[in-house]
Amino acid sequence: MDQQRAIIITGASRGLGFELLDLLVEADARPIALGRRLDPRHEAAAARNACIFVPADLSALPNLDQIDLASTLPQTANEIVLISNAGVVEPIGTLGVIDAASLVTAFAVNAVAPAILARKLLATADAQRTRLRILNISTGAARRPLPGLAAYCASKAAAAMIFDCLTEERPDVVIEHIDPGVLDTDMQSMLRSTDDPALPVRQMFVKFETEGKLQHPRDVARDILTRAGLL
Ligand SMILES: NC(=O)c1ccc[n+]([C@@H]2O[C@H](COP(=O)([O-])OP(=O)(O)OC[C@H]3O[C@@H](n4cnc5c(N)ncnc54)[C@H](OP(=O)(O)O)[C@@H]3O)[C@@H](O)[C@H]2O)c1
Repeated sequence: MDQQRAIIITGASRGLGFELLDLLVEADARPIALGRRLDPRHEAAAARNACIFVPADLSALPNLDQIDLASTLPQTANEIVLISNAGVVEPIGTLGVIDAASLVTAFAVNAVAPAILARKLLATADAQRTRLRILNISTGAARRPLPGLAAYCASKAAAAMIFDCLTEERPDVVIEHIDPGVLDTDMQSMLRSTDDPALPVRQMFVKFETEGKLQHPRDVARDILTRAGLL
């Protein structure tokens, strides 16, 4: 374990984020989980101080700006790592039918919240003279238009571009875009259970499952953390 590293993960209640958090808890990295809730397993871990929970709804942007993240980070950290993982795939539907409010929420959670968290951590890193590193959990959909998924594709593309701009502004901030591939999580079941008019490419998601292409999120989480040198 590197005592000097502070690792923040968003959206660790389930799916890929749950596994990332779980592996880091197992590795005694004392990660900080930011999100609306924790799985009971990690509530217990937080109770014994094996991780820290920072409650936050990433769609509530004004509240997010108020969160005091700096005080949860060890003052002695020589590296701050943000794993920007939380995401929403809704609204699923063609542009003519999706509602405006859920379109706004998708951009809030998938693009604006990661930007707000990055700027808050950048301020902390500068104040502490610490390195900042961001692992942006991205998707092939950020580069590929999929009918019925405009909100997801566009908001994930927006997040990637925000971080690419940050790279130009601050070459000292290390940013890695990670496409985890297709995972056996709630996000994929939601895509399969939508109807065809809403998601014209639904069969592609059905095939991921029937052809055994869905990866177990724990394997992918382990691979991400190992490649990033965090395990
Ligand atoms: N699944 C795939 O095949 C796939 C493929 C490529 C990329 N990805 C990317 O991988 C990441 C994880 O996906 P996943 O499949 O693990 O998704 P998931 O199982 O649906 O989990 C999403 C996570 O994001 C959190 N979240 C959603 N809205 C939030 C909000 N308003 N505030 C705080 N947290 C919120 C959820 O917390 P709650 O429990 O509170 O809702 C949950 O912890 C996402 O960035 C996704 O774009 C996934």
